[in-house]
Amino acid sequence: MATTATLKLDDKEYPLPILIGTEGEKAIDTRKLRADSGYICYDQGYGNTGSCESAITYLDGDNGVLRHRGYPIEDLAQHSDFVETTYLIIYGELPNAAKRKEFGLLLRQNAAVETQMQRIFEGFPKDAPPMAMLSSIVASMAAHYPQLAANNFEKDLANFDLAAAMMVSKIRTIGAMIYRYLRGLPYIFPKQELPFCENFLHMMFSEPYKDYVASPEIARALNLLLLLHADHEQNCSTSTVRMVASSSANLFTSISAGICALSGPLHGGANVSVMQMLQSIHDEGDDGTRFIEAAKSGGKGHRLMGFGHAVYRNFDPRAKIIGKAATEVLKKLGVNDPLLDIATKLEQAALKDDYFLSRKLYPNVDFYSGIIMRALGIPTNMFTVIFAIGRTPGWIANWREVAANPKGRIYRPRQIYVGPVKRDYVPLGQRS
Ligand code: CMC
Repeated sequence: MATTATLKLDDKEYPLPILIGTEGEKAIDTRKLRADSGYICYDQGYGNTGSCESAITYLDGDNGVLRHRGYPIEDLAQHSDFVETTYLIIYGELPNAAKRKEFGLLLRQNAAVETQMQRIFEGFPKDAPPMAMLSSIVASMAAHYPQLAANNFEKDLANFDLAAAMMVSKIRTIGAMIYRYLRGLPYIFPKQELPFCENFLHMMFSEPYKDYVASPEIARALNLLLLLHADHEQNCSTSTVRMVASSSANLFTSISAGICALSGPLHGGANVSVMQMLQSIHDEGDDGTRFIEAAKSGGKGHRLMGFGHAVYRNFDPRAKIIGKAATEVLKKLGVNDPLLDIATKLEQAALKDDYFLSRKLYPNVDFYSGIIMRALGIPTNMFTVIFAIGRTPGWIANWREVAANPKGRIYRPRQIYVGPVKRDYVPLGQRS
């Protein structure tokens, strides 16, 4: 296989090194191109740009493959749980029994949100968007734990284990507190003895004198949901985390930026849009046929939400797992949700339609995740918060890769300037 590519420009040749990943992914290294030739590479939206080398997640969008640290997502979904997968993603290996216990203990010890931090909640209106609250409260962790947020890689890496455990554990507590704050309910504090997902459900749904006890089906469904969101290569929010981290920003600040990126409807907010779409189809008495026709008009306002993906040009492997799980979970819980029927019909219709087939638009993870969350009693406005809790291990692992890379540099893309050329300043009185 070639080790160098050659670019010919104005009769001059520029050798460009070729990089090969461990799964055979090929890249042309253009880092020196501008210095040598004056040209930059143009790739709006970075769709064909490798911004980093990473050992966390392998994704082959053409063949619907997703692996974390080498382990197929299908195997992790079947055999692992969220906490174990979190450890794997952050530390690179599945934990042995002692390490799993130690990690679980660290998460339990760092679940609570201190009184001073609780006061931040009170500053938000009662109809605040949960993701706006989440990003602000996570950003405030840098102020509450300055010893873990030095904005100095060497110091922050020395405290990484504690900061990472705090991040994973507290974002879940903060999520449950946001839910309760927006409903005017008193906070329920974490219980040391409960496993991760059961503890989250306890903090969400317990009443002052009546503990909510999650059934094994519900706990398993939440574990699966979080696990399937745990990392997804260089998506919009993860790239944001890496970009912020590259300026030597601490873990909490970088992750807060990732949460902001996740809130948009084309990224993490898509699960909310899917439910709104299914609900409006249901309310209008459509079986999906009219909506599919409108979605084919090409307008961004009419997209079939939960369909299509920036990198998968085949089935999103997470969607296969979650679609099957949605049917099973609803059956086990005895829930009959008309929105699941609409989703199934939409999927079947779209998968036969040339518009979707020719553009390689298949269901993504968000198409069915909302239906599971609804069955668990999680309201729609909390869906993206759940996605954020699930994505936290991926953000942490990516932050760490940036922080630990001795050859790293600040992320600073270039642009093609298309604005006005140099012109003379016009004084205020002379402007038209
Ligand atoms: N419904 C109808 N048409 C669509 C859709 C859709 N959901 N997605 C893409 N298209 C069409 C688009 O109009 C375009 O058609 P044409 O070639 O005729 O102009 C073609 O497909 C290619 O679209 P694109 O915008 O170039 O695709 P993209 O790869 O840039 O966008 C996407 C990917 C995920 C933003 C887009 O598919 C979309 O908006 N999907 C709905 C939102 C959604 O479900 N997002 C969640 C993504 S998964 C969660 C995550 O990992 O963040």
